Amino acid sequence: MVIYNRISLRIMKSPQGLVVIGLQWGDEGKGKIVDVLSENFDIVVRFQGGSNAGHTVIVANDTHKFRIMPTGAVRGKRTVIGNGVVIDPTVLIEEIEALREAKIEIDLLISDRAHLITPFHIQIDGLNETAKGNMKLGTTKRGIGPTYCDKVARVGVRLSDFTQRNSEQWSVLESSAKSIIEKIYGTVVDDPYIASLESFSSIIKKLLPYVGDSGEYLESAFNTGKRVLFEGAQGTLLDIDHGTYPFVTSSNCVSAAASVGTGVPFSRLDAVLGVCKAYMTRVGTGPFPTELKDDIGHRMQNRGKEFGTVTGRPRRCGWLDLVALRYAIRINGCSHLALTKVDVLTGINPLKVCVAYDVNGTETSTFPSYTEMLSEVVPIYDEMAGWTEEIEPSPEHSDFNNLPSQLQNYIGFIERSTGSKVAMVSVGPRRTDTIVDSRFRF
Ligand code: GDP
Ligand code: IMO
Ligand code: MG
Repeated sequence: MVIYNRISLRIMKSPQGLVVIGLQWGDEGKGKIVDVLSENFDIVVRFQGGSNAGHTVIVANDTHKFRIMPTGAVRGKRTVIGNGVVIDPTVLIEEIEALREAKIEIDLLISDRAHLITPFHIQIDGLNETAKGNMKLGTTKRGIGPTYCDKVARVGVRLSDFTQRNSEQWSVLESSAKSIIEKIYGTVVDDPYIASLESFSSIIKKLLPYVGDSGEYLESAFNTGKRVLFEGAQGTLLDIDHGTYPFVTSSNCVSAAASVGTGVPFSRLDAVLGVCKAYMTRVGTGPFPTELKDDIGHRMQNRGKEFGTVTGRPRRCGWLDLVALRYAIRINGCSHLALTKVDVLTGINPLKVCVAYDVNGTETSTFPSYTEMLSEVVPIYDEMAGWTEEIEPSPEHSDFNNLPSQLQNYIGFIERSTGSKVAMVSVGPRRTDTIVDSRFRF
């Protein structure tokens, strides 16, 4: 008997606050799903991560890649960057300029509590990685870890330091960063002018018109009935607490972070949609039980164009891991799933899905908290028939009954194994390559 998650049995009635979360190691297609959903929302909000994210949206012949800007910007929606995001001002300004060039109107509010990635942080990220040698994480080298470290160490700089012209906090950061670069690593600041308050302030100046109290704004937006979409970055298995530590990013990327990273109370968050690729990918180092280093893995990589949006690195590919997926759904409290990149599996037969792990001869369906153990588990697979038809979305698909029977079987297997309902299926990168189960109202 399958016990469905209680929240996923409720037919979703247009939630006012919806959180979209990646359930794997990032790049699940969150950007695409947020773009599709944002049509029916007033505001799209980022709440964690920074320019390590790369969210791709393809509308007709135009491809947009977002790092910090919420994806809703493509539709000219109100966008908010919450306090939990770490901002590289240069990257954000480039994104704003690219949108202007594309003649897209920008309606942006950036939290004055958000921390800033400075040139010091980017340099230290590189130095940390080199120093780790074999244990390096394969970070995106965008200064993410060092910026979150400084936030917690209370030596970081926030946008409010610039709106309030508080240069003392910059001095605190500068002396802390210099002591790491000079005393720990025995080197010098890469470019002292670029890393100076004068140079950094001149960049920040361009962002100041967008800066304000985003928590207060969101509270009044909720009170006036606006619908708010929260766009997660990275994925649950990269979460600093719940992911495959230490091979993780430096923020919480689970649904609970949507509240902390915006100042919106969690009681406002009505539903959580988990985005799950039909197979697994991972960029950077760290254990990956179902990784395929064979032709099937290469086929997924080529057909899925699995190359990092931010760094261009090839993404490692493997079979869908239901042990990890069940864990991710539990941590996030997903009400529903969006299953993406289903088209990439077309023509692969048979398909395998990992249903449990063998740990030294004992079968388990628990995702291990000790990451070292994850590198030793042997996946136990179920096999099922694949489909061969290319799927062109059409209105008849909206109850999924007209999808190839093998794909219906794949979806049904995921639903039964996880207790969560698949509400959306993505069969290509374009906005229109999306099938939404007509029973769900987003
Ligand atoms: P995100 O970080 O979760 O937003 O995902 P990325 O944008 O980094 O990576 C997903 C990639 O897959 C992008 O290039 C998307 O354009 C593409 N994509 C999204 N959904 C689909 C799909 O259903 N099929 C295919 N073939 N590509 C997709
Ligand atoms: P989106 O939002 C995939 C990975 C890096 C590295 C680890 C730590 O596009 O899904 P960091 O620079 O964050 O300190 O790197 O996390 N990583 C991502 N992998 N998608 C992402 O974002 C990622 N953001 C970080 O590759 O393994
Ligand atoms: Mg990405």
